[in-house]
Amino acid sequence: MSVSSQNLSQAAFEQAPNEGSNRPIWLVPALHWMMAALIITAFIIGKNMEDLPRDQRLSVLGWHILVGLSVLGLFLPRIIAVIANSRIATAKTGRVQDKANFAAWIMQGILYVLMLAIPLTGLTAMTTIGRNFPVLGLFSLPNFANNHQLHEVMEGIHGTMATVMIILAGLHGVAALWHHFVLKDDVLRRYLPGKG
Ligand code: HEM
Ligand code: HEM
Repeated sequence: MSVSSQNLSQAAFEQAPNEGSNRPIWLVPALHWMMAALIITAFIIGKNMEDLPRDQRLSVLGWHILVGLSVLGLFLPRIIAVIANSRIATAKTGRVQDKANFAAWIMQGILYVLMLAIPLTGLTAMTTIGRNFPVLGLFSLPNFANNHQLHEVMEGIHGTMATVMIILAGLHGVAALWHHFVLKDDVLRRYLPGKG
């Protein structure tokens, strides 16, 4: 990797450095890892529920929906935490945090969009089946329509976007590991517990 592309790649992750510690506020990585775990869990359940017998499938789908809705519920707090972190860093350093690497910025933007669009398409698919859907006896998803075509389209888009997201998140994770083990910078360390 050339020096300039290395610098560019390094700058990619320097999104909101705090002067001194260079770490984001703890809530940002906490929500990041929590949501990454939930997304991967929802994906694994989603990919494995199709072939199950009907009685098991309904309860496994319930778990899938519960985990998926947690992603949706944490989305807004995460966005608020990321924006607050950026403002705190700007106040500390006295300069606006720049988005130094366009590619990394776009990648993170796409991941945010998918994080929102995947649960919403799942929710649309589940509220167009013509009846309420009880989720593990905890609550019921409402029924807005009996629209088989819309249900099928949403299910298809949902599954495709989930696969795209896992691939992109994988590439993003590999980039973070590259920074840690090859470039030996603090990009990943800033997102891990500890000092410095
Ligand atoms: C489903 C899995 C994942 C998703 C959806 C995801 C998404 C994101 C997003 C949207 C950001 C922007 C900042 C934020 O919101 O916190 C981010 C930052 C980050 N991610 Fe992930 N991520 C995932 C998995 C991973 C994994 C597996 C790793 C490491 C192996 C990783 C390492 C990082 C690091 C180090 C940052 C900070 C980058 C910076 O400061 O600009 N992520 N991630
Ligand atoms: C980030 C959260 C989520 C992820 C990563 C995810 C992922 C997946 C995956 C990978 C599949 C299998 C697709 C296939 O193989 O074609 C699937 C199916 C499905 N998901 Fe999700 N999902 C999430 C959230 C949700 C939510 C919130 C709901 C509903 C409220 C939902 C409802 C469904 C439904 C109805 C199916 C189709 C089930 C079937 O064909 O039997 N998902 N999801």
